[in-house]
Amino acid sequence: LNHLGPQTSSVGGIERQFTSAAASSNVKVAVLGAAGGIGQPLALLLKGSPLISELSLYDIVGTEGVGADLSHIDSSPKVSSYTGAEELPEALYGSSLVVIPAGVPRKPGMTRDDLFNINAGIVRDLCVAIAKYCPDAWVAIISNPVNSTVPIAAEVFKKAGTYNPRKLLGVTKLDVLRANTFVAQAIGVPPERMSVPVIGGHAGVTILPLLSQATPRVDVSPETAKALTERIQDAGTEVVKAKAGKGSATLSMAYAAAKFAESCLRALAGEPIVECAYVESHLTDLPFFASRVRLGRNGVEEYLPLGRFNELEAANFEALKGELRGSIKKGVDFVNKT
Ligand code: NAI
Repeated sequence: LNHLGPQTSSVGGIERQFTSAAASSNVKVAVLGAAGGIGQPLALLLKGSPLISELSLYDIVGTEGVGADLSHIDSSPKVSSYTGAEELPEALYGSSLVVIPAGVPRKPGMTRDDLFNINAGIVRDLCVAIAKYCPDAWVAIISNPVNSTVPIAAEVFKKAGTYNPRKLLGVTKLDVLRANTFVAQAIGVPPERMSVPVIGGHAGVTILPLLSQATPRVDVSPETAKALTERIQDAGTEVVKAKAGKGSATLSMAYAAAKFAESCLRALAGEPIVECAYVESHLTDLPFFASRVRLGRNGVEEYLPLGRFNELEAANFEALKGELRGSIKKGVDFVNKT
């Protein structure tokens, strides 16, 4: 993970250099669902970040063990563990960033939407607590179906009077990692050099990779572009099948979420950062849409234009609208009917 470089500050009129660790001396990051398949490797990666002063781990079961284990690592973030709803307020209090991988994952044959009934309530309840105990925190949601859980969080925060659309982010970074990896393999460049924007949402056809806007340039036949797009859209199912009932992507997701959290923290410290994220947005006629956004101290500071689509991308954009609109409505209705 990249680390924040040195910065200057004026303290008592004296210009001083301070390192990232000093700059972030008061940054608490909470992981909700920290004992799970994603939560554990995510907490491990975050424990290595010099941008974090306190790593607050919360789950309904098993947090103590994960926390004790991580606390022996000789890196700066202080680890604290909280278990069960009565300890949630303390887990959240003072957090700058809350990352949520709480909830059940898919099993073979399930779509992300099949998770709705369980995960919608989990995300709603966690967001009620966030609104009370750390209303100014950035909130990054991993729990699926992301297309619905982000609108759920927005509705909860609206009801509580704490909603800031610039600080509520659905994590779609794994789609970007997958796109970078598969496209880089296809055109024969190192994956670290590849950058493919992925827009839309985070489920099946709502995942829209923009190969025509990738760097380096992707010069493949329309058939190859179509096959790559479909592989990116179905990549989560590849992992669900391979794990054969033992869950969905956890390690690659944890890596993606740690990178994303790092970007949020660097932005909070004043560095302009561009990431793809699923956010409330006016770029299309859909109320929530994943696109490239520029993050800064205040959250999303700019929604980057979608750019020009090629024929395949234009058709895929039209094809995703119905499903994404339905998933958003389902999330909004869930909060307003319960
Ligand atoms: P998991 O079942 O291994 O872990 C989930 C954890 O959440 C468990 O430790 C569980 O005790 C905890 N939990 C359940 N209810 C909770 C509550 N009310 N408060 C706090 N913690 C609670 O699942 P895994 O594999 O870690 O996946 C988590 C979620 O992430 C799933 O919804 C999955 O679909 C989603 N996911 C999202 C991806 C994305 O790209 N956004 C990619 C992969 C998974």
